[in-house]
Amino acid sequence: MLLHTALALCDWSALQQKRRNLARKHCSPSDASSYYQKMSDVGVMEMHRFMDQLDEEVIPGQDFKVKPLIMQACANMFSEYMCSVRFEYSDEGFRQMVRNFDEIFWEINQGYAVDFMPWLAPFYHKHMNKLSRWSVDIRDFILERIINEREQNFGEDEPERDFTDALLKSLREDPAVSRDTIMYMLEDFIGGHSAIGNLVMLALGYVAKHPEIGTKIQQEIDHVTEKGQRNVTLYDTESMPFTVATIFEVLRYSSSPIVPHVATEDTCIAGYGVTKNTIVFINNYDLNTNEKYWDEPKRFNPERFIESATMAQIRSDLVGSPTAKQDLNSIIKNNNINASNENQKQILRVKKNIPHFLPFSIGKRTCIGQNLVRGFSFIILANILQKYDVGTNDPTRIKMNPACVAVPPDTYPLAFTQRTHL
Ligand code: HEM
Repeated sequence: MLLHTALALCDWSALQQKRRNLARKHCSPSDASSYYQKMSDVGVMEMHRFMDQLDEEVIPGQDFKVKPLIMQACANMFSEYMCSVRFEYSDEGFRQMVRNFDEIFWEINQGYAVDFMPWLAPFYHKHMNKLSRWSVDIRDFILERIINEREQNFGEDEPERDFTDALLKSLREDPAVSRDTIMYMLEDFIGGHSAIGNLVMLALGYVAKHPEIGTKIQQEIDHVTEKGQRNVTLYDTESMPFTVATIFEVLRYSSSPIVPHVATEDTCIAGYGVTKNTIVFINNYDLNTNEKYWDEPKRFNPERFIESATMAQIRSDLVGSPTAKQDLNSIIKNNNINASNENQKQILRVKKNIPHFLPFSIGKRTCIGQNLVRGFSFIILANILQKYDVGTNDPTRIKMNPACVAVPPDTYPLAFTQRTHL
């Protein structure tokens, strides 16, 4: 990922910690309630525009190359969330920027030898030039269409509206922060949309290959929205465990085997001595597909992430959650819970804290974008399936590479058919 070359693969210096804290405040805040609402509103609003566009472009049941549209919807969610601006789907500059991000995302997920042996760079001249051209074009777009205008209208005393305001403020106030640093961070974080768009493409690919998965997700959607009376929002996640579990199952199979860390002191891991400065990899792919931890790990089976719980357990687990009240109301309503049956009812939910499932890693370097990933991928998948059955005219074209969340920019088409009951 573009961002994983910048913030992730960096040291734990004071400057990097400052950058991480700034980003975390906006992408993964501890006081999450207003950001959660914002994420939900931004996602749902964009899905309205996306659906209008999809309705215009698809021919029912025929192959449709949906990936660019999904990537554009994700990019708009990020741009609206972080910079308070979105772009039309017909905007050529915007389309090109999204495409450039996706090309880069695909390339850097291919795991070329030069990624591990930088001295091979001269042999990758063409490849490097391509990446650098795409990056320059992205920077031009973000400067011209987002930053320049924001800088002119920036009011120092006004409250921070979004991530862009926070970056501009840090540029004015902190001598250690340069214009280049804030551009770099903004590109990195806007670029995070590529990961989500690709994840959603994979999820839709699985739905197309396994229609029963789509049917189960649609049952949840129809139940919580009372057959399409409203859109699915982020506040529905607790009541739609199968949908969330489907996203987790996609992450399980696609997680990168390479999460590099460097030992900051001499230590001992699982009985092996590790000296300071040794590079240590968390191999998520092995953890996610090992028969020691998973029943039939090769089978795509979201149910493996689901368990049943009592209302008392659910209430206690939600203590401290900023969305506890809405989540509880939604669970109570969707499971027909009342004072007389509350103690007997078993409620399905997504398993909490599976110790060997770490798609976003753990500890102080854990993924900053994980709330955005969970939130936006849920909103996109659920809102598409609310309105459409997603299938394929040729399942053999849908290919998923293990341990890779990226699908090629020009990837498999999908077939969309409007659901008739709506
Ligand atoms: C499919 C989606 C994604 C997956 C599976 C994923 C996974 C990961 C993993 C495994 C790490 C390494 C953590 C470690 O070193 O222990 C990481 C780091 C990071 N991720 Fe993500 N990520 C995703 C999307 C995103 C998005 C959308 C953003 C931002 C908008 C983001 C921002 C970051 C940042 C900034 C770091 C570095 C944190 C640090 O080193 O301090 N990620 N991610």
